[in-house]
This record gives sequence, structure tokens and C-alpha cells, in this order.
Amino acid sequence: MITPDSDIVFQSYGRCCNQDAFFVDFYDRFMGKSDEIRNLFRATDMSAQRHLLRNGIMQLVLHARGMPATKLKALGESHSRTGYNIEPRWYSLWFDALLETLAKFDPQFNNDIEQSWRRAIEPGISIIRDSY
Ligand code: HEM
Repeated sequence: MITPDSDIVFQSYGRCCNQDAFFVDFYDRFMGKSDEIRNLFRATDMSAQRHLLRNGIMQLVLHARGMPATKLKALGESHSRTGYNIEPRWYSLWFDALLETLAKFDPQFNNDIEQSWRRAIEPGISIIRDSY
């Protein structure tokens, strides 16, 4: 279902996701929040990771627009305790880093757009986080 929130978020992401600098900035912020997070990516090819995240955020946006959760469930598996072992407490820092990066890169970003992002993608983040 294309709700107003999901439409606002789709357009906001469209203003950001074609810039590699968006994803560079996101990971700088995210890793800057904790040495433990930085450590998790110490062996990661970050150029490939940026492309994977571009798609991952798109999955969250598409889920808000009614797409089935299949791909988010797969991300839940890979991030769970039997996978990368990403503890649920890390997801709020991930979301903070995303909102900070959106605020910098989306020229139209404001508090209303931030609230739309929160309402639209929190359910999808929960699917990944709660698979832990
Ligand atoms: C890998 C998305 C949250 C750490 C990935 C991949 C995607 C992705 C698409 C690559 C596909 C895969 O390996 O399954 C997301 C999304 C998140 C999220 C959409 C939020 C809802 C987190 C958090 C952490 C994290 C909170 C750490 C605190 C990792 C690591 C990898 C990874 C360590 C593997 C890197 C490697 O291959 O070396 N993530 N992620 N992710 N993610 Fe996440």
C-alpha cells in the first residue's frame, strides 16, 4: 500500500541514494558511534558493502510500500546470533546514523520527513532486529 509516509520516504531516498558519498558518510557516522561497530567491519570490502546497503535500505522502503518481507527476513537471518551476531541494541545507532546522513544529503529534509522515515521503516528494521 502506498501510504503518504512511504511516498515521502521513497522520494527522500531517491534524492540521496545515487550518491556514493551518502553511503560513505553513513558508514563513517555509524562506525564513529562505537569501536565495537567499527570492529565488525574491519575485514569488510566497504565499497561492496555500500552497494549492498543501498539495496538493503531500498528493501526497507519497499516493505513500507507493501512488498513482502522475504528479503528482510533473509537479512534478519544473516544478522542474527547464528550469523554476524548483531545484537538488537545496535539498531538504534544504525537508525540514528541513517537519519543524520539523510539530514545532510536530502536538501528537503525536515522534521516531518524525519517522522515519515521513522513511521515507515521502523517495522522493517524490527523484522531484521527481532530475528536475533
Ligand atoms: C551486512 C543491511 C544493520 C553489521 C549487511 C548487508 C546488508 C545489510 C544488505 C549485506 C547482505 C548480507 O550480508 O546479508 C543492513 C540493514 C540494517 C543493518 C538494512 C538495519 C536495519 C546492521 C547493524 C550492524 C550491521 C546494526 C552492526 C552493528 C553488518 C555486518 C555485515 C552486514 C558486520 C557483514 C559485513 C561483511 O560482509 O563483512 N547489512 N544492516 N548491520 N551488516 Fe548490516
